[in-house]
Amino acid sequence: MKSASSNSELKKQAGYWAADQVNNGDVVGVGTGSTVFFFIERLAERVNKEGLKIKAVTTSFQSSCLCGELGIPVLDISSVKYVDIAVDGADNIDSELDVIKGGGAAQTLEKIVAAMAKKYIIIADESKSVDYLGETFMLPVEVLPKALSLVSERLDGMGLEYALRMGKAKDGPVVTDNGNFVIDIKLKAPYNKAELNSSITMIPGVVETGFFLGYAQTVCLACKDGLKFLNRK
Ligand code: 5RP
Repeated sequence: MKSASSNSELKKQAGYWAADQVNNGDVVGVGTGSTVFFFIERLAERVNKEGLKIKAVTTSFQSSCLCGELGIPVLDISSVKYVDIAVDGADNIDSELDVIKGGGAAQTLEKIVAAMAKKYIIIADESKSVDYLGETFMLPVEVLPKALSLVSERLDGMGLEYALRMGKAKDGPVVTDNGNFVIDIKLKAPYNKAELNSSITMIPGVVETGFFLGYAQTVCLACKDGLKFLNRK
């Protein structure tokens, strides 16, 4: 899990608020990242102190481990058809409640859980709110290692600037929980989100992009002057 060092007080407020939206009996989709860390922390408190009965479906090895350590029962994602509520962080959020995710390279499972969720909530501190997706964060794209050359060629053809995400304290590229690589693409406004997403997704070997278009029903944005809620109409 990424460290919660920046804006951690704001992240905590959003994470704790989201954990309080979970109901007894819910199957809960648990995202990944330093904001979700606080969601899990408060959820565990409710499980252990209030006797809240829930089951978690997690989006990464890190989130599974943390849920397990804190006493939240975890189900395998393939054993459920839907989740009642899913909560996840974001890297960029625009005014249409569309989001870029994948800072933790977990966007593929995160998108599967988002698609299974009856209610999907994004939690973030105010630094994630941007005028356009990509303003402060590159677009992560998970790619099959054997398709790296083809995908790079196609992205070059589309005139996009990109970089293979490299490991820290590891030689070579980051390897996702699914055994794949991540390419981070620099986005320059103006562009059409839906068209770009579909062009990238159509390249053979692309597993998933970090564009989450039309998924978030509610964004809970933790700002210095309090929590702000944005709801999809
Ligand atoms: C992981 C993600 C995270 O939710 C996103 O990177 C936000 O992380 P944080 O809450 O640490 O800022 O998409 O793949």
